Amino acid sequence: MAPQPTGPHSAPVTPPAAAPALIVLAGATGALGLLIAHQLRQRGATVRALVRPAASPKAEAESLRLQGVEVLAVDYTDAAALTRACTGATCVVSALSGLREVIVEAQTQLLEAAVAAGVPRFIPSDYSADFTRLPEGSNRNFDLRREFMRRVDKAPIQATSILNGMFADLLTGQAPVVLAGPKRVLYWGDADQPLDFTTMVNTAEFTAAAALDATTPRYLRVAGEVASPRDLRATATAATGREFKLLRAGSLGFLGTMIKVTKTLMPAQDDVFPPWQGMQYLHNMLSGQAKLAEPLDNGRYPDIRWTKVRDVLAGSK
Ligand SMILES: NC(=O)c1ccc[n+]([C@@H]2O[C@H](COP(=O)([O-])OP(=O)(O)OC[C@H]3O[C@@H](n4cnc5c(N)ncnc54)[C@H](OP(=O)(O)O)[C@@H]3O)[C@@H](O)[C@H]2O)c1
Repeated sequence: MAPQPTGPHSAPVTPPAAAPALIVLAGATGALGLLIAHQLRQRGATVRALVRPAASPKAEAESLRLQGVEVLAVDYTDAAALTRACTGATCVVSALSGLREVIVEAQTQLLEAAVAAGVPRFIPSDYSADFTRLPEGSNRNFDLRREFMRRVDKAPIQATSILNGMFADLLTGQAPVVLAGPKRVLYWGDADQPLDFTTMVNTAEFTAAAALDATTPRYLRVAGEVASPRDLRATATAATGREFKLLRAGSLGFLGTMIKVTKTLMPAQDDVFPPWQGMQYLHNMLSGQAKLAEPLDNGRYPDIRWTKVRDVLAGSK
């Protein structure tokens, strides 16, 4: 270090600014990962994105580079390379998506590398309804998350899971709940069951803030809006200016039977989100078993503005 001027006539010495935190982000080329990378950069973090070698030349990786993200191609089965890739990070964030080989196996490789590199904190790829207390077998994808949760809870690292309910963005398409054509809100069971919704952007903003916050607890729970099917009916009507009605398709027991039938007729076991798994997700939410416990942590980072379901539905009119 250069000697600092001293003495009564020297200018005040400004200490050098602390280096921005380094966050290692896995799954950065994915839909949520790209948003988390953007939000981390907005918050001043240095971001190192781990991508599989085949993804390195793709447009997503290029867009990360353009935002000032360091893109590092890494083979997850190469423990030494993965450990080097995690070195220096204050937090490893996973936004991986997949089945057992990703959620359990690749994430375990990432976790072990983070521990070996001495990284203090880890955020697993959860970003979902509260799967922690669900019965085994009630949702294939959540069983995998609990399996990984048991590993992460034994590891010498501070883990934080972000639980945000269903991505509200899915209400305008993929999730068959607010049906724009027939103007119905489809549900099973109780029209007054509260459900948790958060947009992907809000989830990414909160995750980025949590990645840079050394004091996070094991779980953080957020929801842009908590709304029952009955609330959704009113919201869809207000957002679109068209009168929506409730459509009760049956009891939760009937939905359970439909899941079994769909799984038999269309197993699609290798798909990450086959129709029967989406139905399992709805069952978990509509039964209240995956409801996020209150109070929610929405206020933890006061700069985040939570998007309401009404705005999501109005945006897709
Ligand atoms: N709450 C909700 O309603 C909701 C809805 C959707 C998703 N999610 C969750 O959000 C998270 C991110 O999902 P997403 O939709 O953003 O995923 P995505 O777009 O499918 O991206 C998945 C990412 O994982 C990487 N990846 C896949 N397999 C891998 C492997 N074997 N090894 C290393 N990397 C691998 C991909 O990298 P490459 O570029 O190399 O392929 C990609 O970056 C997941 O936890 C997902 O379950 C939640």
